[in-house]
Amino acid sequence: MAHRAIVNADVGRGIIDKNIYGQFAEHLGRCIYEGLWVGEDSEIPNTNGIRNDVLKALKDLNIPVLRWPGGCFADEYHWKDGVGPREERKRMVNTHWGGVVENNHFGTHEFMALCEMLGAEPYINGNVGSGTVQEMSEWVEYMTFDGESPMANWRKANGQDAAWRVKYFGVGNENWGCGGNMRPEFYADLYRQFQTYVRNYGENKIYKIAGGANVADFNWTEVLMREAAPYMDGLSFHYYVHPGGFWNKGDAVRFDEAEWDISMQKAYYIETLIDKHVTIMDKYDPDKRIAMIVDEWGAWYDVEPGTNPGFLYQQNTVRDALIAGISLNIFNNHNDRIKMANIAQMVNVIQSMVLTEGNQMLLTPTYHVFKMYSVHQDQQRVSLDVETTMLEADGVKYPQVNGSASKQSDGTVNITLTNASREAAANVDFHIRGLHVKEVSGEVITSTEMHHHNTFEQPDKVRPETFTDFTQSGDQLFVHLPPMSVVLITITPA
Ligand code: AHR
Repeated sequence: MAHRAIVNADVGRGIIDKNIYGQFAEHLGRCIYEGLWVGEDSEIPNTNGIRNDVLKALKDLNIPVLRWPGGCFADEYHWKDGVGPREERKRMVNTHWGGVVENNHFGTHEFMALCEMLGAEPYINGNVGSGTVQEMSEWVEYMTFDGESPMANWRKANGQDAAWRVKYFGVGNENWGCGGNMRPEFYADLYRQFQTYVRNYGENKIYKIAGGANVADFNWTEVLMREAAPYMDGLSFHYYVHPGGFWNKGDAVRFDEAEWDISMQKAYYIETLIDKHVTIMDKYDPDKRIAMIVDEWGAWYDVEPGTNPGFLYQQNTVRDALIAGISLNIFNNHNDRIKMANIAQMVNVIQSMVLTEGNQMLLTPTYHVFKMYSVHQDQQRVSLDVETTMLEADGVKYPQVNGSASKQSDGTVNITLTNASREAAANVDFHIRGLHVKEVSGEVITSTEMHHHNTFEQPDKVRPETFTDFTQSGDQLFVHLPPMSVVLITITPA
């Protein structure tokens, strides 16, 4: 079947918030330690302790916002242990993730320096599960108060004179699970209490994010919206693709065709979940003041054989490129409610951008998708309708092709497309309205084999290539999407 699409370049659908392209870095496995932080004395070339190779790769992604320090780790993190002279910092056990020693060498100052180097907004996740109101309140004071106060003075004594600007602050994480096993009614009350003391100092205005639901827990969303909506700016939402289910997730590289299909179907399922949670949010917040913040998402498989099960280190294939491309298109298309998303996680954990081993680093297929899609950041979404074949896995149907489109201020239109089929190409017949086409160019991420991935021996097995498999005549554009592909089409106006 031919697939059909209409892009209306003059029908704007609102701005695609650049924060949809956000990242998440937790004190988990080799994400912070080794992946980002090697320390100033390391033999691995670094800038103030952050490894240069990873820094450079991440800077090229234009990361708008970075969430830290967790995840589950956030609800047992005590920020005061992570400031002051490094050699004097308290050592603790990271009970959630591998039971390893956390030496607190990467703390608030190091995180802020990383954000500054990346040009990313910090998104701090506070501790509700095992912390106190005072501890949370003092963290905000420490970071953002510009005058004379016990916490501001301590920050200055620790080498940072000027207050930092912190916009995004999360009040707890997964409080229905690792963040305290709470019922929504209890958390809603705690949220109201804790957020009261998350103060705005001077010009710093905090955007408060409440801990949201997991997957299909609609009651959590209902209760939080009913009981605490006036006190929040954003409500988080977490969803992971586990092809084999949570307890037997499946292998990142060694998977069969059925697992590919189920992965695609589960990637699409996030849209059903978003729609249902948003319906509840709409009931309490019809003006859409409160954002949905998808601050954990990605494909989560079994760890690589022989690695620490608590470190969540996994490879990343062309399947992950598709999952990233599908998800980001869905987020773009829900830009009226979704104002931020943070893929889990930035380095060496779950669906990462980069993987490291000693002084080596590689870029994953997911990295390439993020780079390709960065054209959408803060651009005007334009209307794109796609008519496509439905595929099926486990009795559930999902589209073969999906896409999203945005327009830059100079009129250039960028369309990102995915073809989820393992074997069938998709010929998409585009009708372009609201713009006279001058030139079309393209880029593609694909592979001939579904297990292909990048290794330290073959770091460029899956990488973006120039895409030319299209023909254009006037306002008609015929695009031939290869199987298993993520494609960017750029249309320059006359
Ligand atoms: O991203 C890994 C973990 O997944 C996070 O720490 C937690 O919030 C979620 O369950």
